[in-house]
Amino acid sequence: MNRRYRKTIIAGNWKMNKTPSETKAFAEEFKALLPKTKWCDVVVCVPFIDVPAAVRAFKDSRVAVGAENLYFEKSGAFTGEVSADMLADLDVRYVIIGHSERRQYFGETDITVNKKVHAALGVGLNPIICVGESLEQREMGVTMDLIALQVKSALAGVAPEQVRKCVIAYEPIWAIGTGKTATGEQAAEVCSFIRATIRGLYGARIARGVTIQYGGSMNPGNAAELLSHEDIDGGLIGGAALKPDQLMAIVHAANQN
Ligand code: PGA
Repeated sequence: MNRRYRKTIIAGNWKMNKTPSETKAFAEEFKALLPKTKWCDVVVCVPFIDVPAAVRAFKDSRVAVGAENLYFEKSGAFTGEVSADMLADLDVRYVIIGHSERRQYFGETDITVNKKVHAALGVGLNPIICVGESLEQREMGVTMDLIALQVKSALAGVAPEQVRKCVIAYEPIWAIGTGKTATGEQAAEVCSFIRATIRGLYGARIARGVTIQYGGSMNPGNAAELLSHEDIDGGLIGGAALKPDQLMAIVHAANQN
């Protein structure tokens, strides 16, 4: 990470876990563990139904609340969907877009990811844009081509002054929920490549200000090493973000760097 130019952001992704009551209990426990000094940005991304409880519980703390998805249309006949306006009205600050589980199970494509990025930025939300290759793609040697395509299409039409609000999360699919973490070198190689891709699109000054996270089985045991790399500016954490003490241990690892 490089704190001089960009924010370090540790973000939890709860996926389809926790009820509103469990959200409140998590927040109380997590807030009690918050360090007094030296602080990276902390975001907890929760299921839609938990958003009001999370916003209420984290109000007046340094923890920002995020959602895990949105729909790109403003409003209308889209049964079961949630718009960017609805999230912004609840004081949600971040939204995960294009997580590999959404691409895999819910038909998310590079095109819908781009529309969602625009919808989020349009109401001032910070998109956390997920990119990453499968094991087959890594073995075929197309990782960098795929990452370039995902980053470029996610950011298509995004104005330079808005790119700073975007977070990119590099999440190799083979490392998500598998306990199989990318090595620091593997993660750093792709995160540096993502920055180079943004540099190619927007220039060096803007590229050095964008936060690029690693995600995929990050935990208290491997976080410090992963976060010690220059181009890894934080983490998107699934399993370990469900336990207040584990998420806090990762925050501490980030604070040490
Ligand atoms: P994991 O999930 O930490 O459980 O691997 C990360 C993610 O999917 O964002």
